[in-house]
Amino acid sequence: MYRTHTCGELRKSDAGKEITLAGWVQTIRKFGAITFIDLRDRYGITQLLFGEELNDQLSASPLGREFVLQVKGTVSERSNKNPNIPTGDIEVKIGSFKVLNKSVTPPFTIQDDTDGGDDLRMKFRYLDLRRNEVKKNIELRYSVNRAARNYLHEKNFMDIETPFLIKSTPEGARDFVVPSRMNAGQFYALPQSPQTFKQLLMVSGYDRYYQVVKCFRDEDLRADRQPEFTQIDCEMSFVEQDDILNMFEGMIKHIFQEVKGIEIKEKVQRMTWEDAMWNYGNDKPDIRFEMKIANLKSAFLKDGKIQATGELINNANFNVFDKAETVVAIAVPGIAEYSRKQTDELTEWVKRPQIGMQGLVYIKCAADGTYKSSVDKFYDSSRLEAIAKFAHARPGDMIFILAGAEERTRKAISELRLEMGQRLGFRKKDEFKLLWVLDFPLFEYSPDDNRWVARHHPFTAPKPDHIEIMINNNPVIENAAEYLKHPYSNIKANAYDMVLNGNEIGGGSIRIFQRDLQEKMFAALGMSKEESLHKFGFLLGAFEYGAPPHGGIAYGFDRLCAILGGSESIRDFIAFPKNNSGRDVMLDAPSTIDETQLEELSIQLRTQDLKF
Ligand code: AMO
Repeated sequence: MYRTHTCGELRKSDAGKEITLAGWVQTIRKFGAITFIDLRDRYGITQLLFGEELNDQLSASPLGREFVLQVKGTVSERSNKNPNIPTGDIEVKIGSFKVLNKSVTPPFTIQDDTDGGDDLRMKFRYLDLRRNEVKKNIELRYSVNRAARNYLHEKNFMDIETPFLIKSTPEGARDFVVPSRMNAGQFYALPQSPQTFKQLLMVSGYDRYYQVVKCFRDEDLRADRQPEFTQIDCEMSFVEQDDILNMFEGMIKHIFQEVKGIEIKEKVQRMTWEDAMWNYGNDKPDIRFEMKIANLKSAFLKDGKIQATGELINNANFNVFDKAETVVAIAVPGIAEYSRKQTDELTEWVKRPQIGMQGLVYIKCAADGTYKSSVDKFYDSSRLEAIAKFAHARPGDMIFILAGAEERTRKAISELRLEMGQRLGFRKKDEFKLLWVLDFPLFEYSPDDNRWVARHHPFTAPKPDHIEIMINNNPVIENAAEYLKHPYSNIKANAYDMVLNGNEIGGGSIRIFQRDLQEKMFAALGMSKEESLHKFGFLLGAFEYGAPPHGGIAYGFDRLCAILGGSESIRDFIAFPKNNSGRDVMLDAPSTIDETQLEELSIQLRTQDLKF
């Protein structure tokens, strides 16, 4: 037997026991002829005491960090206890030991605050995974996985695997493709999600499906995106939107309870997409703090109408506001005292290319009820007061105003709101605010192609009372500048996202389940009949054999874990992640393949296009 106990297990009550441990050498401390070693395994750390009698043996073949040891000895209570670790009351007096394997000196210290940089730790990921910090994340991931599975199993969901080698039907992100040797010149694609398969399973009558499944998307990476990531993917038959929201609200509450010990009693707040965009400039608002947007002037389509007209700010000879499509403001609490240097720095912040604004207008709402602004030349006190009132500013607040083109400005004010929330400590890692965002638009206008694209995916159903708009109107956009006036701009979908602390952790929809409506949808997206048959003939065919009404959702499993673990980056919660350029630096993948492999695949590289 290699071990009788783990390194995290022994307590004062075990004193006197003869035990065997196995693990890795964390630290070695020598005091004359006596040596202390901290032995580590997955479960914890135990202090070992090597007495004088073992000194010769230790000196003859010295131990080093990360050596794998097996030790036999007696547990004894420590005089000098360590309250910071669960085994801190005891140590093991070693009788004999054996080196099970040596280790070369690791490239970084296997400790909580390691000296290893990101790249080095990625290259030696198997060593990084030994660190407590990383291990905690992997453990959290497993407990989220287990909690989700338990909940879904209890609710009669069945885990059914779907294939990874499928057909390329790019719509949304780019596909990863795999050449087929047996079918020269042809390619499989790796699934961006099991979307059509789970719908087919509904047609087959498996009315509650789930899978914790890998998805592959060849898109630009960010902290919350990986080229291969995992979804908790679910689908249900005979359901309406509310059934899905309730079922998965239940799942997320169960996960919170099991993983974090947090009981969420209240219903998850629900907000329409329009309200989210209007009040937060964003379809995944962080509602841990208020600071809502005041729309001074707008080109945003809400309830079928362009909403704010700009009475408060127009006609003051201030060209920037007069000419802008959109003018939006936020009242930031308690910072009216900001210095010129601080407002200048924020002005530079909004001018960065990522935000792309021309400048930042501010109004300081002093505690004594007076106003001072960067646009005093154009607006007298009474107008500033009216703006402040509209923006719900209180004495002591600072109002920031941005102006410009609708989409960019709304995005910028949303970023500024988040930035100020961050700087002022309103986005606490240990506070969790869930939100459903509902009623997304069915379509989005793509200026590049001058056509409609699906906001979620092409299988999402329009709201029942919007189906007529879709059927009765031609999707062609005659006048690109006025696409907002096209009836399709107003079609909403039975689609929903779950948002946690400003992150989209899940998204789904009620699906189209009739062939004719699905065909109409493909046509609306500019697909010819032939093209839709070529890409999705299998689904259209299946819909002719009694497809039940159905809908579903997929959670971004990695994202959910990261947020629950209080991290920005999903990489920390994936055992073997890719770096920001999509590389596995440990394996050094992707890599070239040799000529014979290429030949077997009937592939010739356009080497002139490659940069080595
Ligand atoms: P969607 O594309 O919204 O929906 O994806 C669902 C959730 O997956 C997560 N996610 C990602 N996580 C990490 N890296 C990525 N590159 C990445 N892309 C998405 C997000 C997102 O909310 N088939 C539909 C679901 C459905 O309609 O049922 C789908 O895939 O958290």
